[in-house]
Amino acid sequence: MSPEDANVPAERRAGDPADPCVMVIFGAAGDLTKRKLVPALYNLAKEGLLSNDLAIIGVARREMSTEEFREKISRDIREYAASTFDPKLWQQIESRLHYVRGHFDEDSIYHQLQERLSLIDAEQATRGNYFYYLATAPEYFSPIVQKLHAAGLTQEQNGRWRRVIIEKPFGTSLDSARALNRDLAACLKEHQIYRIDHYLGKETVQNILVFRFSNGIFEPIWNRRYIDHAQITVAEDIGIELRGGYYDAAGALRDMVPNHIFQLISLTAMEPPISFEADAVRDEQAKILRAIQPMTPEEVLKRTVRGQYGEGVVKGKRVAGYRSEVKVASDSYIETFVALKVLIDNWRWSDVPFYLRTGKYLPRRVTEIAIQFKKAPFMLFRKTPIDRLTTNRLVIRLQPDEGITLRFGAKVPGPLMRLGPVDMDFKYADTFGCKPSTGYERLLYDCMTGDATLFQRADMVEAGWSVVAPILDVWKALPPRSFPNYAAGTWGPKEAGELMERDGRHWRNLED
Ligand code: BG6
Repeated sequence: MSPEDANVPAERRAGDPADPCVMVIFGAAGDLTKRKLVPALYNLAKEGLLSNDLAIIGVARREMSTEEFREKISRDIREYAASTFDPKLWQQIESRLHYVRGHFDEDSIYHQLQERLSLIDAEQATRGNYFYYLATAPEYFSPIVQKLHAAGLTQEQNGRWRRVIIEKPFGTSLDSARALNRDLAACLKEHQIYRIDHYLGKETVQNILVFRFSNGIFEPIWNRRYIDHAQITVAEDIGIELRGGYYDAAGALRDMVPNHIFQLISLTAMEPPISFEADAVRDEQAKILRAIQPMTPEEVLKRTVRGQYGEGVVKGKRVAGYRSEVKVASDSYIETFVALKVLIDNWRWSDVPFYLRTGKYLPRRVTEIAIQFKKAPFMLFRKTPIDRLTTNRLVIRLQPDEGITLRFGAKVPGPLMRLGPVDMDFKYADTFGCKPSTGYERLLYDCMTGDATLFQRADMVEAGWSVVAPILDVWKALPPRSFPNYAAGTWGPKEAGELMERDGRHWRNLED
């Protein structure tokens, strides 16, 4: 929570419903609204976390009346609600849905919005609190905010709050991210801007902080003295689906690294914050992003690997290569796989590499952070060469099969002194059961309660782009010669393995 944000009631207790407000969704006829936002609102209602005075206005280009919008969203929620559908509960939300039709760059919709918002405030006691969710193509982010501002819809006064949630991608380069930050800052204060990264909505990602900072036993060994390296894998077993138009301009590096993967690195590597207030946590995350060494062109050649999938077999099904996907150039140089070796230049992490890999159409879906500890320093057990001793490894599994595993060496029963690796395993589902979640519940609730801890600040976004900028430059100057260079359904190009083998290490086998 920002100290600037005087509108946030300090006395809110965990589990209290959010403030009365109006959520305005730009892009309300799109995929994100039906798959994530509305199911998340439904789950929040189920938990009793929405105010009785919440209203929702959908804004989109599609010709629809409010009645038709309600019908559409009611059909969608029946399909996308992750839990058993309760029609009574849904009815309470449905009756609070409204629709405004128009193009996002037309002034008239902002006048319509103004009128509709005033009407809702009068009828429903929403108190002039509004938040705008920009679930639109990125070229509309600046114009929408500018027009909302011009229509007097972003100004906070007399205790009412106004906030804007900006979806990904936040820029496509350092320059464009800076320009977008400048546009936003001209209309909004930083505490009104909520740059969303849905990875931060995931329970297990938030649990990295709890794991590190609520358990005294790990923090003392969380540094270069005890840790050899870290491996972060975000593997997907899907291709680019029907997103060729976006993906063939973005590629895997832009799509996944400066946002999702850098969130994972910063939470794993950050210093303990002085409190759990938004800026205290984000200050520490930002320091890590700034401490990641930007690569020289020579380092880009040595420490980065890019790949593009060709045809192959994924989960028993034959799939076409990337260049045959819809809206993808038949000679595309866009990467669908990236592996990087990243170094963090600070006291805690100096010389501890963080290896990252992410890709489409890999053999299985798995997101995890593996912390590899150093070997025990001394060969105590007779006839057990030091290189055969088990090294300790802590794996934080973010999805699927969420949990944490600690590997250590144990004596294999029998008269001989033989050692073998064993795992101590915690599984979320076994311990806590599974709660339906889209990952957006927490983020929407936090925005409605004014807590920006899990949203990105302007400096964090720019720091992330500063790290990837030199890689993008070198890759652009030297188009890859060997694309496609991995078959769909394999773990990426062989160079990804070589990246670690050169350092005498190897990627964790994720086949089982
Ligand atoms: C999105 C990317 O931000 O994250 C997608 O644009 C990717 O390409 C997705 O598939 C991964 O999210 P998750 O939650 O499935 O890991």
